Amino acid sequence: MEYIDLRSDTVTKPTPEMREAMAEAEVGDDVYGDDPTVNHLEENAAEILGKESALFVPSGTMGNLTALLVHCQRGEEVIVGNQSHIYLNEAGGMSALGGIHPCPIQNRADGTLSLDDILASIRTEDVHHPITRLICLENTQNVCGGVPLTSKYTRQVGELAQSKSLLLHIDGARIFNAAVAQNVSVKELVGPADSVMFCLSKGLVAPVGSLLVGKRNFIARARHVRKMLGGGMRQVGVLAAAGIISLETMTKRLADDHARAKKLADGLRHVKGLSVDADSPFTNMVYMNLTENVSISTQRIGKQMKDFGVLVDSENARRFRLVTHYWIDDDAVEKVISAFKDVLN
Ligand SMILES: Cc1ncc(COP(=O)(O)O)c(C=O)c1O
Repeated sequence: MEYIDLRSDTVTKPTPEMREAMAEAEVGDDVYGDDPTVNHLEENAAEILGKESALFVPSGTMGNLTALLVHCQRGEEVIVGNQSHIYLNEAGGMSALGGIHPCPIQNRADGTLSLDDILASIRTEDVHHPITRLICLENTQNVCGGVPLTSKYTRQVGELAQSKSLLLHIDGARIFNAAVAQNVSVKELVGPADSVMFCLSKGLVAPVGSLLVGKRNFIARARHVRKMLGGGMRQVGVLAAAGIISLETMTKRLADDHARAKKLADGLRHVKGLSVDADSPFTNMVYMNLTENVSISTQRIGKQMKDFGVLVDSENARRFRLVTHYWIDDDAVEKVISAFKDVLN
């Protein structure tokens, strides 16, 4: 059975065009810098994000960890959102592998960290304290609703970081969604950042891979750390070939995913038992709760939805997140709305 899979945009399978490009990719040993397809992808990524250089990494998690390991020494501290992927969902890699101390501060409903909170959490010079080194933002902010952070806000954080001699890293797993939703260039959104990680393997549909971008000397050090983490890959042009298509074509169609998320949310607002978040969706994620009168859990509902050919993910027993992507068309959206009606009404 072919399911309509709304669990995440990470479920996207490569397109036939990607598979063809992967089969025909020119390759070489990338640890020697000899893979022309990887080199092409890295050059494209750096150019599009307006940074000097880029590095292809196997996953977003490795990209973020690599950035943190380059920016911070053991015993140094990272200011990070308490709802961020780096803090919640990367297996504590910064502490376990880097001896880096996280300083979590509250993500506000709009995904931002307040400038006052950031300022207040910067350590004073004191023998008792860790040394604050880095601020991390996440754009789009996933847990806060897939909400995009503005370039104005990012600039303010960048200025604050600079004034305090701190660095700024952006977990931009879905930075292209953020750019499209606000009709700004990705370059503008990440201008103030010292480093940015973005993923090819989410809304951009590639099967594997993320890119880390930044200054030339930062990427040279990141290349070393990637090797240390076991992320030095060989004839990996077969994967980069799909990533090139992600950058060239998939970045240009994300508005379709956002429009379908809106259509999905509008339809689900008419289903008894569901309460879609008032301003959802911001991008490709629809967040909603069960209303009080529904006695069964999201997990139970998820099992019943599966019988209708729909896969959904629950955030907890009362909350769903549904994510649109390349493989969700208008017909799928209608089927999902109708399946929720059948299960709940
Ligand atoms: C915001 C965010 N950052 C980082 C990642 C990590 O990416 P990966 O799953 O490729 O390690 C994810 C994955 O879902 C994510 O949503």
